[in-house]
Amino acid sequence: MTTTIAELERRRAAARLGGGPKRIDAQHAKGRLTARERLSVLLDEGSFEEVDTFVEHNATDFGMAEQKIPGDGVVTGSGTINGRLVYVFAQDFTVFGGSLSERHAQKICKVMDAAMKVGAPVIGLNDSGGARIQEGVASLAGYAEVFQRNVLASGVIPQISLIMGPCAGGAVYSPAMTDFIFMVKDSSYMFVTGPDVVKTVTNEVVTQEELGGAVTHTSKSGVADVAFENDIDALLAAREFFDFLPLSNRMDVPERPTSDPGDRADESLDTLIPPSANQPYDMHELIRKVADEGDFFELQPNHAGNIIIGFCRIEGRSVGVVANQPLSLAGVLDINSSKKAARFVRFCDAFDIPILTFVDVPGFLPGVGQEHNGIIKHGAKLLFAYAEATVPKITVITRKAYGGAYDVMASKHLRGDLNYAWPTAEIAVMGAKGAVEIIFRGRTPDEIAERTQEYEERFANPFVAASMGFIDEVIMPHSTRRRVALGLRKLRGKSLENPWKKHDNIPL
Ligand code: HXC
Repeated sequence: MTTTIAELERRRAAARLGGGPKRIDAQHAKGRLTARERLSVLLDEGSFEEVDTFVEHNATDFGMAEQKIPGDGVVTGSGTINGRLVYVFAQDFTVFGGSLSERHAQKICKVMDAAMKVGAPVIGLNDSGGARIQEGVASLAGYAEVFQRNVLASGVIPQISLIMGPCAGGAVYSPAMTDFIFMVKDSSYMFVTGPDVVKTVTNEVVTQEELGGAVTHTSKSGVADVAFENDIDALLAAREFFDFLPLSNRMDVPERPTSDPGDRADESLDTLIPPSANQPYDMHELIRKVADEGDFFELQPNHAGNIIIGFCRIEGRSVGVVANQPLSLAGVLDINSSKKAARFVRFCDAFDIPILTFVDVPGFLPGVGQEHNGIIKHGAKLLFAYAEATVPKITVITRKAYGGAYDVMASKHLRGDLNYAWPTAEIAVMGAKGAVEIIFRGRTPDEIAERTQEYEERFANPFVAASMGFIDEVIMPHSTRRRVALGLRKLRGKSLENPWKKHDNIPL
């Protein structure tokens, strides 16, 4: 018995060493943690329970039969984050570059299946050279098995990916199908083909960082949500973020005690809107003043800044926030902001997280580029997402709500449950000047000015919409948190179902 126990300990110790001290040192020298170190930061202390520690690959070609490392390049299992269950896998770059073999894929699939069975999120820590080159099609098959599970799990359990090293080829498509992607600056990359292939095919010269680094993907492409300075920051943020999410689509949103009263008034909001309609203000200020303890976890802060998305809590319960940002492109809706917000709205709806929408939008962005790149289809994504959402939807119009963008931003007509407007709201087909220049084309500047004033007096207010019942109430800005908190409380029992269908056909 003593010998068998000693043998288990020996094998475990060998597995924990992954690719060995030299490769662990190399990993550390790049400023990266190992797979096991990462899990120890992500999970509650002592909660990690590993499975498949002794799984090995089954390849024989290219001398692989002689190179077997227990665990086969991925550490898998389950643990807790602040006491709540989560399934995890962490690719181990020290073992064959974290590349995905048939067995490596089977390990990932096993934790995904377990997570689906019990209804708990999956967090993947990705650090992989892609398909295990020595295994050929067996590794491609492994990827496809993971992809299939990503799709079936989508909308059932939250899936979060942390990109913590190179992720090439197949290694990017599984994260791409998960709900949220966090990256680490100057240390993680995502690309379908790397700089060398790009150079060969298109003759473009580009660094790894420029092609698929954290800054690129969280600003230009919008593929990833947030970029962090290092592994530890990313992992700690993932813990914080996890606390906003329900465990599955069958579970309620998490609730945490708060000392911030739901009826807290904030008088400073009464002067948030500047005197001139063209002057911007920071919508973050409103979000923070409404949120419990001013806490807001923003997603994609550096991509399509004209719309803000993220999570806060109201009276301790998670709420998804979507808000136009007047500080960026006057808060206009364009292709990128529509896509960004649409996916977020759909996530909230899938997981029964109420949506709070703050509106200050001058319309859709005009321009040849926008039209030729499909603003019609991409703008329709956000319209579609809001219209199909059945979760509680509370909307507050702070200033402009013009044209189609008024309709899109969780209007009453898209089954908004509570649609509030501040007294400063202007709900109209377009801004007064633009409207008058169309209706009174060719008139003198004096007449245009006079008519503009007339139009403003008639439409630049919330009362026309309120008189039609499209706005449920015009509220004082300082009472916004109280109104929202009350509304969310009353809407907890909301029950609304869309007609039966196999699935919808959102304009992709
Ligand atoms: C097997 C791999 C590997 C892979 C890396 N390694 N990638 N082994 N299969 N895909 C091994 C290396 O041989 C090396 O082993 C160790 O991992 C570390 O790799 P290095 O190259 O020394 O590290 P680094 O310089 O940091 O470069 C990392 C890298 C590079 C950028 C990821 O290794 C690389 O370009 N790898 C290949 C990427 C790729 O083309 N993958 C296939 C994509 S096709 P030793 O023993 O020396 O430590 C694909 C198709 C799927 O994924 C499509 C599904 C839709």
